[in-house]
Amino acid sequence: MFIIAPSLLASDFSDLGSEIKKVYMGGKGCQYLHLDVMDGIFVQNISFGAPVIAPLRKICGITFDTHLMIVNPIRYVADFADAGADIITFHTEACDGAGEILKTIDSIKARGIKCGLSIKPATPTGALAPFLDKIDMALVMSVEPGFGGQRFIEGSSEKIKELHEIKTGGNYGFDIEVDGGITLENVKKVRDAGANVIVAGSSIFGAENISGAIEAFMSI
Ligand code: DX5
Ligand code: ZN
Repeated sequence: MFIIAPSLLASDFSDLGSEIKKVYMGGKGCQYLHLDVMDGIFVQNISFGAPVIAPLRKICGITFDTHLMIVNPIRYVADFADAGADIITFHTEACDGAGEILKTIDSIKARGIKCGLSIKPATPTGALAPFLDKIDMALVMSVEPGFGGQRFIEGSSEKIKELHEIKTGGNYGFDIEVDGGITLENVKKVRDAGANVIVAGSSIFGAENISGAIEAFMSI
């Protein structure tokens, strides 16, 4: 399974409904929509939250891949579940220790939602190790979270490779998602390293021809 997840952060916020339709293409386009939630504390930027996501649920059946860049994420699991999130990913660095991470995983799964766990560029893959049998997706940030349009951090492919080796070695079922600075030039590298869910913001919503950009990504 290889999935392209366009990041709504790079879209035209004045017309979110139309932007989503451009990537969903009546079910013929992307299966995932990546939703970047930022609180101005875990990351410098503030984006949007559950009240913006909830009405978008009516637009189409695209999978809402919700990436929480917020401190103490367990507080908001119910809100994002109610808003229609299909996957909720949160950061190890946003929680107060392993106990809190486990509680957050449980609270997401209790809602019947897939759970992702993410690490920032400076966090080693080992931080994910104790949770790999409990999560549906591991998200490797390939830029410092907070802003779209940044340059891919080269060492990220190595982290993806490490995770992929652990995944195959341990016969785990989690997906490996990569997020930040992905372009048509570097997507093959991260795929080859083992990523199977690819987030792309500027290189899809920023493209002149969005459907052409999606096709180009899919054909690599
Ligand atoms: C950054 C976000 C990313 C971002 C990716 O904090 O998590 O999802 O939107 O945007 P690009 O693809 O432009 O780097
Ligand atoms: Zn993201």
